[in-house]
Amino acid sequence: MFIYFCLSLWSGVFGDVAVKSVSVMEGESVTLNIDVNTVETDETDDQIQWRFRHNFIIALMYRQSGEKTVYDDVLDGRFRGRLELDQTGSLTITDTRTTDSGLYTVKITNNILYKFNLTVYARLSVPVISRDCSSLSSSSEQSCSLLCSVVNVSAVSVSWFRGHSLLSSISVFDLSISLSLPLEVEYQDKNIYSCVLNNSFTNQTTHLDIRGLCQPCPDHICSCGFTEAVIRLVLSALVGVAAVAVLVYDIRSRSLQQKREQTSSSSSD
Ligand SMILES: *[C@@H]1O[C@H](CO)[C@@H](O)[C@H](O)[C@H]1NC(C)=O
Ligand SMILES: *[C@@H]1O[C@H](CO)[C@@H](O)[C@H](O)[C@H]1NC(C)=O
Ligand SMILES: *[C@@H]1O[C@H](CO)[C@@H](O)[C@H](O)[C@H]1NC(C)=O
Ligand SMILES: *[C@@H]1O[C@H](CO)[C@@H](O)[C@H](O)[C@H]1NC(C)=O
Repeated sequence: MFIYFCLSLWSGVFGDVAVKSVSVMEGESVTLNIDVNTVETDETDDQIQWRFRHNFIIALMYRQSGEKTVYDDVLDGRFRGRLELDQTGSLTITDTRTTDSGLYTVKITNNILYKFNLTVYARLSVPVISRDCSSLSSSSEQSCSLLCSVVNVSAVSVSWFRGHSLLSSISVFDLSISLSLPLEVEYQDKNIYSCVLNNSFTNQTTHLDIRGLCQPCPDHICSCGFTEAVIRLVLSALVGVAAVAVLVYDIRSRSLQQKREQTSSSSSD
């Protein structure tokens, strides 16, 4: 009976420790709060050990003496200069990065007392809406094809909204890819459209300006602007003229040379 009581007490205090989920935005600081002063053990000077992803000891503290050490050189120094321990044993990570995500555990004299699952969310860029003149349907007089684009994202969704209603959405979980989600509107459409980029922590929104973006597309072939097309035309014309000039010069100098050779050979005779 006594042994059973001790065992259940042991598992209650030290056994299945609940994982506490903590989320933070990249660049912010986060404190994983513990209080070693509330934990009772028989040891005279307990060692409190912080580990990252089970294998890496990142901080040590001795409760009675208060002696503290951080090992911020582990994992190629990814934590360098960013770890702080306070007197309760709580760990603060400053200037967080997405690579700080993972499980943090606290062990005190061989028993795991705390588990934290930290997720550091990447900052989201603002989605960019652009006119898509390469789309086939953009040849229609009434409709305007648009693209909402985001670059280098992972674990996000991109969605088009008309007012508050969701029109379309795509989600990705791969590492660092670029995405474009199309939308077709009428030139005369008076609804409010927006493109939203989100992860499970935060979001960024860009509103569609139909009047500003939905200008008629330039006629086929070159999807670039009119002035650019003119510049290209002039440039290629110039290059053409230059090529002809070089050719003419070449022919002339050759015929001159031939003439000279003829004259010199005739004079040596
Ligand atoms: C930690 O959180 C992430 C994302 O929130 C989840 O995918 C993962 O399974 C969690 N890990 C643990 C050990 O709870
Ligand atoms: C893409 O994102 C990753 C991680 O967020 C970053 O390391 C990389 O430099 C980015 N690449 C570009 C081209 O922006
Ligand atoms: C984006 O937000 C929607 C709705 O809030 C959510 O269902 C979805 O899971 C989020 N996307 C990601 C990648 O977390
Ligand atoms: C974006 O986030 C804000 C709070 O940060 C929330 O109120 C809003 O509903 C979110 N928008 C979408 C479309 O998920």
